[in-house]
Amino acid sequence: VSLYLCGRLDEAEREHWRACLQQALPEESILTVLDAQTREQVDVAVVANPAPGSLQGLPQLRLIQSLWAGVDRLLSDASLPEDIPLARMVDPAMNQAMAETALWAVLSLQRGFFEYARQQQQACWRVLPQRRADELHVSVLGLGQMGAATATRLAEQGYRVHAWRTRDTGAIPGLPASVVVHAGAQALPALAARSEILINLLPLTAATRGLLNAELLAALPAGAALVNLARGAHLVESDLIAALDSGHISQAVLDVFAVEPLPGQHPFWRHPRVSLLPHAAAQTDPRSAAAVVAANVRRLRQDQPLRHLVDRRRGY
Ligand code: GLV
Repeated sequence: VSLYLCGRLDEAEREHWRACLQQALPEESILTVLDAQTREQVDVAVVANPAPGSLQGLPQLRLIQSLWAGVDRLLSDASLPEDIPLARMVDPAMNQAMAETALWAVLSLQRGFFEYARQQQQACWRVLPQRRADELHVSVLGLGQMGAATATRLAEQGYRVHAWRTRDTGAIPGLPASVVVHAGAQALPALAARSEILINLLPLTAATRGLLNAELLAALPAGAALVNLARGAHLVESDLIAALDSGHISQAVLDVFAVEPLPGQHPFWRHPRVSLLPHAAAQTDPRSAAAVVAANVRRLRQDQPLRHLVDRRRGY
């Protein structure tokens, strides 16, 4: 049997992943290209956002292990083999990276650093009010791995943190008691109304697609900021541009887009109130993630329960 590593990786990335996986799983044979014969041997696919159709024709497949935390693109592939366990990437190093990006955005908003960057363009020397962390109301949408790590980090930093999840699935271990948790669609408008900064870390599902729309943006207080670190399809981009242009939203920090790479002519690139990253808020780090993959592959080999399995019906 063999592992098959595939997905959107350039040559150097693929080789780096192969080497890290091989080091973590010295006993396994790892393939990056398949022929008619090796196709028959693959029982684990290790995938980084693969093109649709990539996992067809693998008769021995027993596990699909994603290197990405979000599996929305995999699940939208109609040819994805059914009934094969699918595991998403859960790596504490990735959660911490996401919490760091969120903290950078929130700190910059609290202290006016995006505004100072604009002022520098105009050679404008003007000191802004200096707000305290405990004066700022920050909300996190999504309380999965990354949402919980981010809410925790922001609470530790002294912000007033509320968090929202689509449904109440019980207490979240380790979440500071100061984080106020809300659940369900009916709770969202009231939460929005008190969110000076809204951070999106939801999984992309049928229930969350387009959630960041004109209605939700209008429910935020005037001058609020939006931070989208989850998926581009959560956001109705034209609704955000209208809200930025009207001044209702004062700043957007965006890591993800409906089309990636973001096309050169897209208005976000040059919008003075958009700060953007090239889908880099939390990358999977091969050094730690290879160990996560290895642990699941060993569990498969030893017939132990697999970890981080996706509920395909739920979508994450
Ligand atoms: C990145 O967006 C991921 O899902 O890992």
